[in-house]
Amino acid sequence: IYSALFLTFLVSGSSAQVAPSPVIAQVGTDVILPVRYTGDFFSLVWYREPRTSDSSYRIGLLDPNGNYFPGPQSTGREEILPNRSLVLTNYTGNYTVTILAASTVPAETTELKVYKPISKPTISSNDSTPMEFNDTVTLTCFASGIDISYQWWRDNQPVSSSGRWFLCNNNQTLTISKILRTDNGPYTCNSSNAISTNSSDKFFLNIRYGPELPKISISPNSTELSVGSAILFSCVADSNPPATFTWFLNNMSLNENGQNLTITKIQQNNTGNYSCQAFNSDT
Ligand SMILES: *[C@@H]1O[C@H](CO)[C@@H](O)[C@H](O)[C@H]1NC(C)=O
Ligand SMILES: *[C@@H]1O[C@H](CO)[C@@H](O)[C@H](O)[C@H]1NC(C)=O
Ligand SMILES: *[C@@H]1O[C@H](CO)[C@@H](O)[C@H](O)[C@H]1NC(C)=O
Ligand SMILES: *[C@@H]1O[C@H](CO)[C@@H](O)[C@H](O)[C@H]1NC(C)=O
Ligand SMILES: *[C@@H]1O[C@H](CO)[C@@H](O)[C@H](O)[C@H]1NC(C)=O
Ligand SMILES: *[C@@H]1O[C@H](CO)[C@@H](O)[C@H](O)[C@H]1NC(C)=O
Ligand SMILES: *[C@@H]1O[C@H](CO)[C@@H](O)[C@H](O)[C@H]1NC(C)=O
Ligand SMILES: *[C@@H]1O[C@H](CO)[C@@H](O)[C@H](O)[C@H]1NC(C)=O
Ligand SMILES: *[C@@H]1O[C@H](CO)[C@@H](O)[C@H](O)[C@H]1NC(C)=O
Ligand SMILES: *[C@@H]1O[C@H](CO)[C@@H](O)[C@H](O)[C@H]1NC(C)=O
Ligand SMILES: *[C@@H]1O[C@H](CO)[C@@H](O)[C@H](O)[C@H]1NC(C)=O
Ligand SMILES: *[C@@H]1O[C@H](CO)[C@@H](O)[C@H](O)[C@H]1NC(C)=O
Repeated sequence: IYSALFLTFLVSGSSAQVAPSPVIAQVGTDVILPVRYTGDFFSLVWYREPRTSDSSYRIGLLDPNGNYFPGPQSTGREEILPNRSLVLTNYTGNYTVTILAASTVPAETTELKVYKPISKPTISSNDSTPMEFNDTVTLTCFASGIDISYQWWRDNQPVSSSGRWFLCNNNQTLTISKILRTDNGPYTCNSSNAISTNSSDKFFLNIRYGPELPKISISPNSTELSVGSAILFSCVADSNPPATFTWFLNNMSLNENGQNLTITKIQQNNTGNYSCQAFNSDT
């Protein structure tokens, strides 16, 4: 596979032109570093790195008849084509071409950057159970490699810095201050390099909150009931983790701790004001 390069060439007898830096390629593919030079020459040499004074950096030499002679830096995988372009694989670095001709031709250097397809990023939080209103949470997106850019999504909507939301570290971290229960997610992030993009799994925050003011519902819903009938009181208070409850009759604790209080056979002494209190073990 050859990477396609589109170039506009200057036509000039005494100058050579190479692809603008950087040339991007994927690991394992062959790359062509093209050279445009229209004049005659005695020899054309490609170097690894811009060290043209040192022949040990030579990859190879092309003679005017189009014959290729490997140099000390040749790994056997390179070749200089008769049209002077260098074919190589898999090595990030700077490559320099020099042309020896009747008139001076300046050396030209181009940078090749070889990338692996980006790994799947992972999201981590510095606080696995933040508390609503109080805590600031930092989410980090991580993928291995170089030259990575990151982007955040919440509920499939792109995230940008505003209000309590703050992107930093080149968008690798997302900080959410004074977290709310509605900030639970799902969060995803994308990691991208020059050749590919990958997406994280969904990430949810477990935000502790509540309990809200508890509400009692009664079944059957009636304030007057006959002796011997049954009644169920149910206490509801929004909370994470779920609330625990304590029941009171006329402000006296009933030693009942469930969400529901059931009286199967109502007696005279069950008359009174029922109330419940909700507790969250964490908040
Ligand atoms: C490309 O480079 C990597 C890391 O240097 C190496 O593991 C891999 O074998 C190379 N692939 C080819 C096709 O040369
Ligand atoms: C040189 O030859 C290769 C292989 O035929 C081709 O892909 C490349 O575009 C050529 N380069 C130039 C500068 O003509
Ligand atoms: C290539 O050269 C540029 C400019 O001098 C430099 O910034 C870069 O680090 C070099 N790349 C490599 C892989 O050596
Ligand atoms: C994302 O990366 C994983 C490995 O980290 C790979 O298996 C998967 O194919 C990649 N997905 C894309 C769309 O590149
Ligand atoms: C998480 O990071 C934020 C921002 O740096 C900080 O305010 C918060 O205290 C950290 N939380 C924990 C549990 O370390
Ligand atoms: C949350 O913050 C408020 C105001 O700063 C404080 O009064 C309260 O004690 C904090 N709650 C916890 C559980 O730390
Ligand atoms: C960070 O993300 C914002 C919003 O998505 C974007 O405008 C900005 O260019 C990104 N910055 C970097 C360094 O990637
Ligand atoms: C980035 O992530 C979003 C949401 O996870 C996904 O829909 C989108 O396709 C990703 N973008 C790219 C270029 O992979
Ligand atoms: C119970 O009945 C009262 C009065 O009829 C009504 O206002 C209330 O909404 C009812 N509660 C439930 C939980 O049905
Ligand atoms: C229960 O306590 C509350 C507040 O302490 C008080 O206002 C109310 O009158 C008390 N109710 C009974 C039946 O004692
Ligand atoms: C309490 O009663 C309600 C309504 O009957 C029921 O949905 C709920 O599951 C009960 N809760 C518990 C903890 O038994
Ligand atoms: C009501 O009286 C019965 C027996 O007379 C007793 O077992 C029960 O605990 C009493 N209930 C309350 C709420 O005091």
